[in-house]
Amino acid sequence: MVIDYMLKTALKMIKTIEDHGFQAYIVGGFVRDYLLGIPSNDVDIATSATPKDLKHLFQDACLSNDDYGSITVIFKNIHFEITTFRKELSYKDNRRPDQIIYIDNLKEDLKRRDFTVNTICMDQKGNIVDLLGGCEDLQKKIIRSVSDPFVLLEEDVLRILRAVRFATTLQFELDDTLKEVIKAKKYLLSRLSLNRKKEELDKIFSSPFAMRGIALLKELGLDKELSLIKIYQVKPCSQVIGIWAMLEVDDIYPFTRNEKTLMEEIRQVLDSPLSFSNLYHYGLYPCVVAAEIKDIDKKKVNEAYLALPIHRRKDLAITTKELLNYLEVKAGPFLKPLYQELEELVLTRQVKNEKELLLEKGKELFGKLERDDNK
Ligand code: CTP
Repeated sequence: MVIDYMLKTALKMIKTIEDHGFQAYIVGGFVRDYLLGIPSNDVDIATSATPKDLKHLFQDACLSNDDYGSITVIFKNIHFEITTFRKELSYKDNRRPDQIIYIDNLKEDLKRRDFTVNTICMDQKGNIVDLLGGCEDLQKKIIRSVSDPFVLLEEDVLRILRAVRFATTLQFELDDTLKEVIKAKKYLLSRLSLNRKKEELDKIFSSPFAMRGIALLKELGLDKELSLIKIYQVKPCSQVIGIWAMLEVDDIYPFTRNEKTLMEEIRQVLDSPLSFSNLYHYGLYPCVVAAEIKDIDKKKVNEAYLALPIHRRKDLAITTKELLNYLEVKAGPFLKPLYQELEELVLTRQVKNEKELLLEKGKELFGKLERDDNK
């Protein structure tokens, strides 16, 4: 969505909240990305209004996220996540706060957040409000923790992967202290669910700078903690599924059946991405992904695919029924391999894909089979 449209709508949103006597600011990823000229998917708002006030204010438009005490409002097709200023008192499972109190102070709210670049706010007039040095770190391109990184990462271990993700996608550096603490606390990652790990890893691997993220995961020694043992064999690939295929963690992380099939196909094709057989049997996509991994020109793969005499079984100029009629025999175990052989002959251009020629060839092969059987 166009950044300016989102900003205009977000400013209207916080004005509506402020018009009812509350404080409200845009905060987090939207402001960070706006200052970097990057489009965002949603907008976070921090406010002194409580969820009860907000539900009253937005009524039908609002969905409550009761587990986290924030609400989501969809306004003009934009998702607003509105969270009441809060202090987080204690955390459970190194992941989520289990005790919070609502407060009336923006700065206190910002102090509970993860990284300084995520604490920059914007008020209803569009002015930047920077209470914790976020703008300086944004300029220096540094991911730095807002508070003591030991506590910060222990409170919520997902922040380890968020730090790597921001350093990857924004091409920022991790602050030295944060790096050291990540190394010391990496064992906590075992407490994070595979789903949450995969969500963050997907964002890292689908970034145009994925190799930067992969280098960082190695440098911080997170590969073992994340079961990414094969990370040293990963080569650049713009497709996230290609990276997962190289990592060979199909049975560790949650993937759909289709994704598992695709990863297996990509690995199969990696040996010879341009063979007729691969292009025909696996289709274009796994071959293009494998070609990119092997640094083969994708254009060549596309051209080779377009030049295939047939692209799927139903492109073959005869059906099994027509073959059986021509041979004047009933179906039997011979049929499948016979038909496949014809398919292979067409694919490798040994026989033209023409009905008469294929029926004749079929007859010849069938005769040979019968002679072999009688021997
Ligand atoms: N936050 C945090 N710790 C987390 C998750 C979020 O402190 N584990 C804070 C950060 O200040 C963050 C804000 O909550 O900016 C909103 O979180 P989220 O929308 O998940 O992340 P964004 O920073 O907005 O980044 P993105 O939308 O790109 O994921």
